[in-house]
Amino acid sequence: MVHISVISNNKGGVGKTELTVQLAAALARAGANVLVVDMDPQANATRRLGVEWDPAEPIPTMAEVIRADQVGAGQGAVIACGWRTAEGAPTAEAENIDVLPSRFDLINRETEAGVVGAVRRLTKALEGWIEDYDVVLIDTRPDLGHLVQMALAAAHTVIIPTDPNYDSVEAAIRVSDFVERHAVDMANPNLRIGGVVITRRKTTTEQDYQVDGIREQFGDLVWNLGGVVKLSDGSDHLNPPYLPEWSRFAEADAAAVSLGAWNDRNGRKTVALYDAVARIFRTRLLEAKGAAA
Ligand SMILES: Nc1ncnc2c1ncn2[C@@H]1O[C@H](COP(=O)(O)OP(=O)(O)OP(=O)(O)O)[C@@H](O)[C@H]1O
Ligand SMILES: [Mg+2]
Repeated sequence: MVHISVISNNKGGVGKTELTVQLAAALARAGANVLVVDMDPQANATRRLGVEWDPAEPIPTMAEVIRADQVGAGQGAVIACGWRTAEGAPTAEAENIDVLPSRFDLINRETEAGVVGAVRRLTKALEGWIEDYDVVLIDTRPDLGHLVQMALAAAHTVIIPTDPNYDSVEAAIRVSDFVERHAVDMANPNLRIGGVVITRRKTTTEQDYQVDGIREQFGDLVWNLGGVVKLSDGSDHLNPPYLPEWSRFAEADAAAVSLGAWNDRNGRKTVALYDAVARIFRTRLLEAKGAAA
């Protein structure tokens, strides 16, 4: 059964889109069929998945899908991930990733929040055709407004990425509290926090302190990526328990490619980390008994 996760934090720049895109890639490497839904008018996930908006050849996006307010409306806007090999063919990861793209005018849907049933528009748009996917990942804006609420209404779980900075941790807690208080209001009483991922970790004393705070606050919900793994070149490597602040992540985002695009040691290290994220996603959310309730 398909599992739908929202990636959310009430703070900008914590790595929500990074996690959405590179987790999609890692799940795809492991053979899962993944749909990424871009519910952010910034459309960063859309671009990083290699989907370009061309005014000369406009394609339907989530702005139109949500406006349609119809069961199954998303199906008509699905597009394949645009990652390509040097020869111009879709990469192996891209073969397993579809995208519901976004564009800046998705913001216009915010004003429709008061319309009856508006919070269920994304749920409706995904109804009846997403069962062929194993996983749906929904990227969101750094707020808890209407576009994010539509995503929360449509999901089984929320994954909260947070960097270990005071304001980001507070914002992560706000997401968790919001879900607890308003899941019923969003017509989704079974919605739960599926995990907390520590991102952009630098080794400073202040961040050590914040990491302790995150573990104290979220306990077992914090995904521990650490452990010895085999890299694709056969060597042993020790993953840190979190996603560190490494330039390679930002480079992949800027270049709109998967971390797997680099065949060097740094590339293999970043791939190993995201493979660990995907492994935890599968064990905790896909294989756990009753996970996709
Ligand atoms: N682990 C990391 N190491 C280094 N840079 C990172 C890491 N994760 C993300 N970044 C970079 O930090 C910036 C913010 O990341 P990203 O856009 O994924 O955050 P976001 O939470 O989606 O932001 P927004 O709230 O604007 O949607 C990007 O330039 C991204 O490439
Ligand atoms: Mg983002």
